[in-house]
Amino acid sequence: MRVLTRKDSDDVALEAAAMFVDLFARKPDCVLGLATGATPLGLYGRLIEAYGEGRLDFEGVTTFNLDEYYGLQPDDPQSYRHFMESNLFRHVNIKGERAFVPRGDISYRDVEAFCSGYEALIRGAGGIDLQLLGIGSDGHIGFNEPGSSLRSRTRLVALDPRTIKDNARFFAREEECPGLAVTMGVGTILEAAEIVLIATGSNKAEAVAEALEGPVASMIPASALQMHPKTTFILDEAAASLLKKRNLYMAAERTEGETGLKIY
Ligand code: GLP
Repeated sequence: MRVLTRKDSDDVALEAAAMFVDLFARKPDCVLGLATGATPLGLYGRLIEAYGEGRLDFEGVTTFNLDEYYGLQPDDPQSYRHFMESNLFRHVNIKGERAFVPRGDISYRDVEAFCSGYEALIRGAGGIDLQLLGIGSDGHIGFNEPGSSLRSRTRLVALDPRTIKDNARFFAREEECPGLAVTMGVGTILEAAEIVLIATGSNKAEAVAEALEGPVASMIPASALQMHPKTTFILDEAAASLLKKRNLYMAAERTEGETGLKIY
């Protein structure tokens, strides 16, 4: 896998934004997989800026978000739909009907059909060209918690108490954080043509090290990315601080600089 280490979260956002600008130039009708959380905010800021400067055009773009809290209405201020509208969609020229976020307001009876419908929509769009990921401090991707099948598909999941604790900062009280979510599966994520995972801060260092340098294990869902042929981790120094193979990643990056080739 490619591992790029940058000084801080601003530089991580810049580097990730460059991958999006590059993809938009090659494929104006690209399909993106998008993520929520605090980590992608800098990147979304950069994308909005690039759109404002005429360097990005979302006209032909389709997006699929990874996940949504179950039990929240799309217009709930805590919903991921609301997050995406406020932090990206409303600021760029993406077509509303092509910006998909799983729904959290469907009945238990309909949730399975909804999830297979979401998978069908992704397939129908031609699959995801570039999937953006963050990482949970427990190694989760999307809401695929430790123990998720590495072949899992879009489904209803129960959130790990650690995730609820981590995400409680976005709610007035911890008890308000929903205990269930709808998430793309690990198997769904692995089907993306290219993946970029961004992580910043020392609270992600352990999860990042286990994902990159530990064994592939369902207890660290992000470790499944080791089985993906085209994944880039973009880390700040704090998130990269527990990696043992930093010299190797730096050597690969130097070679990239010299050859212009990407080294996975
Ligand atoms: C949430 C999201 C994930 C995200 C993770 C990290 O639980 N479901 O997609 O990557 O948290 O979030 P943050 O970037 O706020 O640390």
